[in-house]
Amino acid sequence: MNSLCVTIEKLVYGGDGLARLPDGQIAFVPQVLPGEQVRIQIVQKFGDYVWARPVEILSPAQKRQEPPCSYYPACGGCQWQHIAYPAQLEFKLQIFKETLSRLAGLGTVPIEGVHPSPRPLGYRHRLQFHVHSATGALGFLKRRSHDLVPLRSCALATPEINQVMSVLPDLPAWKRLHPYVKRLNLGTSLAEGLVTMLLWIKVEPRKEDLWEIFEALPVLKAIFYWVRGRFPIGPIPEEAPDNGVRLFPVPPNISGQKEEVFFQAAPGVFVQNNWEINLSLIEYVRKIAGLSPGEEVLDLHCGMGNFLLPLSLLARGGKGVDTDPRAIKDARANVERWGLEGKQVHFEVFSAMEALLECLKLGEVYPLVLLDPPRGGCKELLRFLPDIAIDRLLYVSCDPPALARDLKILIKQGFCVECIKVFDMFPQTYHSESVVLLRRA
Ligand SMILES: C[S@@+](CC[C@H](N)C(=O)[O-])C[C@H]1O[C@@H](n2cnc3c(N)ncnc32)[C@H](O)[C@@H]1O
Repeated sequence: MNSLCVTIEKLVYGGDGLARLPDGQIAFVPQVLPGEQVRIQIVQKFGDYVWARPVEILSPAQKRQEPPCSYYPACGGCQWQHIAYPAQLEFKLQIFKETLSRLAGLGTVPIEGVHPSPRPLGYRHRLQFHVHSATGALGFLKRRSHDLVPLRSCALATPEINQVMSVLPDLPAWKRLHPYVKRLNLGTSLAEGLVTMLLWIKVEPRKEDLWEIFEALPVLKAIFYWVRGRFPIGPIPEEAPDNGVRLFPVPPNISGQKEEVFFQAAPGVFVQNNWEINLSLIEYVRKIAGLSPGEEVLDLHCGMGNFLLPLSLLARGGKGVDTDPRAIKDARANVERWGLEGKQVHFEVFSAMEALLECLKLGEVYPLVLLDPPRGGCKELLRFLPDIAIDRLLYVSCDPPALARDLKILIKQGFCVECIKVFDMFPQTYHSESVVLLRRA
């Protein structure tokens, strides 16, 4: 196919650059910057837009940098390694503002800016890999493709995860095991700098192979495997410290304790990707929650207690629900780790919807309700919130379009946006995390 020269107008949600073709069609082009003139080749045509690939950057922007990772041109894991970090933050904020304005009509709300990540690289303490069925290579998918890019390291991962990535594919035990492995999850236990491995596997593995892998990799804390059922099997070895769970240190300003305390999370249980940013996020949530000692909090996606535990220190207590029974087990263990048994903090395995219906049945109301849903947002819950969240709502989101859609509904229901802040949980990618405080008008 012939190439064309275009000028990139702006970056859009998803990370691509947007350009207009001579016939008026829109082209989405990866790994470019606004203002750049680029020679492109069309890869795929859709109704009124095309996907293109950059063939040559004719006038590189000043904000362009050499990508720190050699896999970047092919790997679909990152979208913005070609952009200097301060400029990534500018583009994130711009796209976030545009999304809220376009989808929620929130053109004028005060956004406090983007909190940068102290580590633009090496921040990801957990990664989930595809496993190549023929070679056993670990990798991520190519951009816009189902093909695997085999990786021996990842610039975003912790050094501990990189140790496993560089050694595992060559181990004879892995060569025997990998044809049965569907996915591999590596999670760093930050307290000790060790890694917990979780395998999703089609058949019961040979224990000898797991032992061989464990012994070849001193950086491993434990191995777990998941064949079927609600819980994985492990830890291997049985005597792994703390039953193989990951431990995350929490400083006294957040935990309220004199000694260092930890959050625990079993392998595979959700933990925010970038721990330093997570701690800043918790601090911000505590600051804007406006809790007083007599109030109670309802956390509808509580995970292992990430927000509810630190918030409960400012309140009388709270209730947290999550559909993941392992997260709730961790949350209850974290109550003990933090010495909060005397507090009124309760965790239950419930869906957010079940929890809201239960509140309606019992006539329970809360001055503060916290939402931190998965990527798709929580549109289905919103109709019940005006009856239960009698004063404030805190909405933590990793998906600006879903957030904008939900905010539009909440505003119609009589909530006002009081403040918004973006956190760079995912440097080198277009993704952003944000927190919104809403109050009943
Ligand atoms: C983005 S994570 C946030 C977890 C926690 N707030 C944190 O910061 O670690 C979303 C959580 O929602 C849970 N979840 C998914 N669907 C749910 C539902 N329908 N009801 C309640 N929790 C749900 C997941 O298990 C996950 O723990």
